[in-house]
Amino acid sequence: MINGAQCIFNPSGPAEPCRIVVLGATGDLAGRKLFPSLFTLFKAGHLNPESRITGCGRGEMSDDEFRRMTEEKVSPDDSEGEQWRRFRQLISYHRLDFNDDASFAALAAGLIPEEGKPAVNRLFYLALPPSSYERAATAIGRAGLGREDGGWSRIVVEKPFGHDLTSARSLNAALHACFNEEQIFSIDHYLAKETVQNILVFRFANAIFEPLWNRQYIDSVAIMATETLGVGHRAAYYDTAGVIRDMFQNHLLQLLSLIAMDPPARFEADQVQDEKVKVFRALKHISSNHDDLAIGQYGNGEIDDGKVAAYREEPGVAAESTTPTYARITAHIDNWRWRGVPFTMISGKRLEKKITRIIINFRRVPHSLFKDILADTIQRNKLIINIYPDEEICLSFQSKVQGTHLCLNQEVMRFAFATGDDQIDAYGRVLLDCLNGERLLFWRQDGLEETWKYLDQILARDNTSRPPGQTLAIYAAGSLGPNREEKLLRHLLTAGKQ
Ligand code: BG6
Repeated sequence: MINGAQCIFNPSGPAEPCRIVVLGATGDLAGRKLFPSLFTLFKAGHLNPESRITGCGRGEMSDDEFRRMTEEKVSPDDSEGEQWRRFRQLISYHRLDFNDDASFAALAAGLIPEEGKPAVNRLFYLALPPSSYERAATAIGRAGLGREDGGWSRIVVEKPFGHDLTSARSLNAALHACFNEEQIFSIDHYLAKETVQNILVFRFANAIFEPLWNRQYIDSVAIMATETLGVGHRAAYYDTAGVIRDMFQNHLLQLLSLIAMDPPARFEADQVQDEKVKVFRALKHISSNHDDLAIGQYGNGEIDDGKVAAYREEPGVAAESTTPTYARITAHIDNWRWRGVPFTMISGKRLEKKITRIIINFRRVPHSLFKDILADTIQRNKLIINIYPDEEICLSFQSKVQGTHLCLNQEVMRFAFATGDDQIDAYGRVLLDCLNGERLLFWRQDGLEETWKYLDQILARDNTSRPPGQTLAIYAAGSLGPNREEKLLRHLLTAGKQ
């Protein structure tokens, strides 16, 4: 129990001791996200002090050099000095080269216990460019590190899980050659966000929403993740991926599945995944209806009063690049619950605001008895799930304005999560779940394949049937996206304020 709350899963105390091996430990992801999150878990008492963290990279480096480098990235403040000193003792460095089996054998020597010695749990985190995933997984397997010999062995991969269905299957085959499905943790950090986790609780722990959660009462759903950031230093990856692979294949389709899925019989990872996969399977392929798809790319413009470069001028981006940085896909789910309800998903970089939000638009009242008195039509009820920057759920409804007149006004019931600085961020949560073997927040291979099947036909159409320049609307950085999208974006961005 936490303050009277009923807990299904409450990881208090440290996880089992484990050897954490970070491949790509000198890279950006490890420095920016992974080590800060590991330190947070350590401070919160979730990382077992018996655990050890081995950072692996291609260069030569001493343990102390690596610890110093990590300290610069994590930048613990003065009050954390003592904790940092204890944490840094857990860290060591190992030079690893995928083409050099001997370097993997040396790593394995420290990770596979000798006969009669206690079992070792191992967690491999691939903080590597996606192009290296297959080679890394294969090398780990060749060194015998995927085998579970008393302890467990798990591997963590980050998106992108392939580039299309074929490459996703090939990555999966490489991973499954040495690990089984229960050992593979494919991360989607959106699933660890507090408000995202709350979606299933909100839907299935309350009796009042589920009867309305269908085509009879819901008119449309919008799922948006707009950003002000540009491509930054990730052009090498992004220019071959684009927004559809970067944001839709994973985060937005996960949000869609949480909103659209049927209730599983039990709150267990596999049962939840089963229901999500059914949603992905029911996604109707987008055919000739061009209105269901819009793409754009940011030009130059202003963000926060500062001038920013166009996408094509970003370092590492091809001068003639036709990679979309904005997309709207209106998805249709062909099943009894959702037939005819559009799910509009939008994401883009360098837009006016960073907002992550889901809007459930309910149908209008079937008959307005106020029609003859009020000139205006009655606004629909809306349920808004704000994920960023606010973490809240708002339900809008009509109410009479107090006084002698008969006037209606839209009011909002609001529940907001409190923000505290001791919270473990999304990365910390997924890491903790990996350590605890909790699989709810991760992708399962069949789900990944279904999302690729859906997106492959969109991407193929986009890449082949529309000449570059005609397909891609250039929008000013800091704006509301391509011209034709502005009205919709404005509506969705201001929805939370009503
Ligand atoms: C990542 C994408 O998965 O999600 C990035 O690769 C994007 O391009 C990021 O910026 C957005 O995450 P968040 O949590 O800031 O909404």
